[in-house]
Amino acid sequence: MTSSEFAGFYKLTPDERLRFVAEFAHLDKAELEILRTSSALKVDAANRMIENVVGIMPVPLGIAMNFLINGKDHMIPMAIEEPSVVAGASHAAKIARSKGGFWTSSTRPVMIGQIQVLGCADPDKARASILAFTENILAKANEQDPVLVSKGGGAIGLEARVINSIVGPMVIAELLVDCLDAMGANAVNTMAEAVAPLIERLTGGRVYLRIISNLADKRLAQARVTVAKEAVGGPEVVDGIINAYAFAAADSYRCATHNKGVMNGITAVVLATGNDTRAIEAGAHAYAARSGQYSPLTRWTKDGNGDLAGEIEIPMAVGLIGGATAVHPVAKVAVKILAVKSARELAEIIAAVGLCQNLAALRALAAEGIQRGHMRLHARNLAATAGATGDLIDRIAEKMVEERKIRIDRAKELLAEYVKGA
Ligand code: MEV
Repeated sequence: MTSSEFAGFYKLTPDERLRFVAEFAHLDKAELEILRTSSALKVDAANRMIENVVGIMPVPLGIAMNFLINGKDHMIPMAIEEPSVVAGASHAAKIARSKGGFWTSSTRPVMIGQIQVLGCADPDKARASILAFTENILAKANEQDPVLVSKGGGAIGLEARVINSIVGPMVIAELLVDCLDAMGANAVNTMAEAVAPLIERLTGGRVYLRIISNLADKRLAQARVTVAKEAVGGPEVVDGIINAYAFAAADSYRCATHNKGVMNGITAVVLATGNDTRAIEAGAHAYAARSGQYSPLTRWTKDGNGDLAGEIEIPMAVGLIGGATAVHPVAKVAVKILAVKSARELAEIIAAVGLCQNLAALRALAAEGIQRGHMRLHARNLAATAGATGDLIDRIAEKMVEERKIRIDRAKELLAEYVKGA
């Protein structure tokens, strides 16, 4: 199996699905077992990841199907507790195939390390002194990570600004670090701490904060897609999606929800691959507000043909080495399923998933409303809670959706009826 396009994947059992994923991603028996068991992360390993560990909090891992990205099929592992997200992504990815799927790009993975200097007698002169010693500061920073440097990364630039604050002016030096395949927080923070004494000597000021910035606006991932109007549901749905985008662009209340929908997809893949979900969320929302007006992370237009064209640009500080990605057994298998060889490739796929998730939400909102999909899953949960098993779960759920009576008492009634009638 080399295509990720699969009609009715949702109808299979988890074990049947897993077999397809294993075949697609060439998973071995041990990797298969890691996905099959909910306790793949052992308490011992968890105890080394964070403090005061008392247990494990498992989250469902689903596979979004149908993704065609840069002409290549992908299955997308998503860790998320919310219903309809994986189904929405799979469906939108399917309609995105109508015109060749998603196309992506990214910048060099450069992160910013900030060094805050206070108490400079002349802040502008202090700024100039920092910049005059750029080479020395970069050399000091690069001494901290010879491995990163040997592979072509490391500190590659230095900027300095004077900002005004409620406690007076401060000089902010910014190290620009190419983190290659790492998320980079450790490398950047170590470098920022190491150059602080030199910066104090150069400025005569006192350094306080030395820390990475999560507004990773030099580490961007972009994705774009064109979807045939027929595949979206017709010209009216295309217009509906553009109207929804226009609403988000004009109104922060809607925009927060619009971007939340984008992040449904993004955070799920970030979590599945053991990356830092909070770093990505912080960067995304700060980037969305970079013009001073909180804005949509995606943009939707209609092309000359009347088809729907979408794009996203988003900071994407994800890594493949270090952190939980390197130690969490499920994250390692998730990376294998994605078949990515570099952090940039991973970042680009995640951007495509964000754009796709937004397409799913806007299409559903513009066409049938969001509740239909949600309610179907909710109805299945109620049917199971009422005691239904096997095929009966779907029969009862479908009946409740049809009747628009999605309630536990109705599920129980239907179960009694169907069991009696069997
Ligand atoms: C729900 O988790 C996400 C949506 O609200 C996003 C949106 O409204 O665009 C459906």
